[in-house]
Amino acid sequence: MAESSPHFDLSCELDAEIRRAAELLGRARRVVALTGAGLSVESGIPPFRGKGGLWTKYGEPPLDGYQRFLADPAEAWRSQLEPKEPWARALRDTLAAAKPNPGHLALVELEERGVLDCLITQNIDDLHRQAGSRALAEIHGNYSLLRCTACNARFPRESFHIDPEDLPPTCPECGGVVKGDTVSFGEPIPADVLERCFSEVEQADCMLVAGTSATVYPAAGFPVEVVRAGGCLIEMNPEPTDLTPIAGIHLRGPGGALLSRLVQHLDAGGVAS
Ligand code: APR
Repeated sequence: MAESSPHFDLSCELDAEIRRAAELLGRARRVVALTGAGLSVESGIPPFRGKGGLWTKYGEPPLDGYQRFLADPAEAWRSQLEPKEPWARALRDTLAAAKPNPGHLALVELEERGVLDCLITQNIDDLHRQAGSRALAEIHGNYSLLRCTACNARFPRESFHIDPEDLPPTCPECGGVVKGDTVSFGEPIPADVLERCFSEVEQADCMLVAGTSATVYPAAGFPVEVVRAGGCLIEMNPEPTDLTPIAGIHLRGPGGALLSRLVQHLDAGGVAS
């Protein structure tokens, strides 16, 4: 059972809203969740925007990262193996140390209860996989994987031999150039994962959004699509976002505490799954 974050007190009004969200989820036919960097803040990974955000501190990175990779894959690999940007070093160190938090674990419990049908995450931190999520679409990739730019084959980074003297690494399946699975700025979302996301969004009649500023597309458009098709939107975020006006329920607070409490309401209320 995921324990709620100890340092966040739920008001009676907020708790009533969480119960209402649990009832909504229990009645929904097909529920898809969308998570962003905010859900991993309680695992020690800084978000990108807003308070303590990496881009807030260091500025948004250039939007042609993928084009620069293609222009000189070997050089791009050298700078990834020894990152020069302070934000890249900070992110690498926190990713290695991060562990799933109660928010990740609560989403696994929603999946195991049959309440959550699919989880789309923008996070590359591998924490949903580590927590045990199975029905998972990592729309911006996963830093622990490598991906072939030609055939889309993916490989665990730790079992792939990368020779710093022989860069870029090439695909054992097709010989194509291999890069990190994390989707670079300017890189198209891999077709396989994008098709899966569109299919899940099309079938959903309820979306649970946690920890995203809803500023990066196509992911930011998914909740809008669900609402446009007549579905309901539950948003969890300490701050309002562009989604807040279209959310049927907006729960203001940290994802860990809110999601853990939601699971408790599902238990207590015997909400059918
Ligand atoms: N619980 C829930 N939400 C939180 C928490 C928390 N403990 N702390 C912060 N937040 C919220 C912030 O209020 C903000 O709205 O999480 C959101 C984080 O927004 P971003 O940093 O913009 O992260 P995200 O929405 O995932 O960014 C989308 O942008 O740079 C790209 O590829 C990157 O996937 C990322 C994409």
